[in-house]
Amino acid sequence: MNKGFFITFEGGEACGKSTQIKKLKDYISAVAKNDKFVFVREPGGTPLTEELRKYILNYEIDKPLPMTELLLFCACRHENVYKNILPALNEWKIVVADRFYDSTIAYQGAARNIMSMEDILDLTKKIIGDVKPDLTFYFKLEPEEAFKRKTGLGELDRIEKEGLEFHRKIAKGYDYIASLEKDRFYCIDASKSIDEIFEEILRVLKEKLPQIF
Ligand code: TMP
Repeated sequence: MNKGFFITFEGGEACGKSTQIKKLKDYISAVAKNDKFVFVREPGGTPLTEELRKYILNYEIDKPLPMTELLLFCACRHENVYKNILPALNEWKIVVADRFYDSTIAYQGAARNIMSMEDILDLTKKIIGDVKPDLTFYFKLEPEEAFKRKTGLGELDRIEKEGLEFHRKIAKGYDYIASLEKDRFYCIDASKSIDEIFEEILRVLKEKLPQIF
């Protein structure tokens, strides 16, 4: 049980979640509530894991084996939880994370097929204990549309370079977790406009956290 409130943003490539997180940050600054929030991303969030992020996503000289990739994401998560997320939640803050363990389930589980969802959840429990999002915004986008958007993004990282089939598997993975964890998942139609999506996010946040929004 978290003391503060833990929100995660999840979805496949080019789903628009990072744009929405930026809008949320701006909104929070405008209403002067910065001190109540901590924003993190995965992989990343600490000096070490921001360095690791570069290697995990862009190191082309010696590509990691699939299990190494999974463990690197998990190592980054361990750092992020114990150095950023848990301390903030223990101070009753609201933590907003750009990706968390649902990404590992969708990417390394469903798409790369390295481990089952159950095994990833078991491993996650060993790595970060009972820390769990209270609310997950899942940006749902047709894999074909995601693939089209991604092609217009310019320089792509190692994972973004994967093909359409990979996107389809990621989407299936997310749909599956979302169907199992209906209490915390809020599904967003990511084909809507940026402003429409932001309004929807604010509406949900106003319901869940009326004292803040
Ligand atoms: P993004 O945060 O800019 O979307 O980039 C992170 C990339 O890393 C994205 O391609 C998804 C991938 N990823 C995984 O494959 N597994 C994970 O556990 C996490 C956190 C990210």
